[in-house]
Amino acid sequence: MATEGRPHLALVGGMGTGKTSVGALVAERVRRRHIDLDRWVQADTGRSIGVLFDELGEEGFRDAEQASLERALELFEPIILSTGGGVLGRSSNRDALCTRSYVVWLRATPETAAARVGDGHGRPLLEDGSPVDVLRRLAEERAPLYEAAADLAVDTDNRSADEVADEVSVFLEGRQGAPA
Ligand code: S3P
Repeated sequence: MATEGRPHLALVGGMGTGKTSVGALVAERVRRRHIDLDRWVQADTGRSIGVLFDELGEEGFRDAEQASLERALELFEPIILSTGGGVLGRSSNRDALCTRSYVVWLRATPETAAARVGDGHGRPLLEDGSPVDVLRRLAEERAPLYEAAADLAVDTDNRSADEVADEVSVFLEGRQGAPA
């Protein structure tokens, strides 16, 4: 059974920390629905993330992200939510996430994250310079937000998505008494 008030589990962290792949694995393990917020934003708007940034700018993307986030968090059914790396930038998103979900922060060094995102295709913020430099700058700027929101922080360097998913699933089961 879900804990009253905080039915969901949300994965936060920078680009390339494994939020999407780990989220899918955790969902499988705890038998919950997995939602990837970037995918919901794209489905809700009918546009890719790149097109949203091009047409509406980052603020327009953030408006769409906030709307999709609110919709996901309102679900009664407990979900595993993989967020986008900048979701905690808005205080209303932080409040909504922390009220409705346990928050797990996936961490990776900028070098690990850069290796995972490759050329950064589909991630407009990575077009502003070398991916590793952008990832380092964003990680420094956002670390206080991730830290303040997180119920658990998990380092993902040199670990497979399966290993990270195991740790997150054990955490969730401990919090919610979820079935294995
Ligand atoms: C962003 C991260 C992306 C996506 C968008 C902006 C960010 O998601 O939401 O490109 O601000 O860090 P991932 O973290 O899933 O790559």
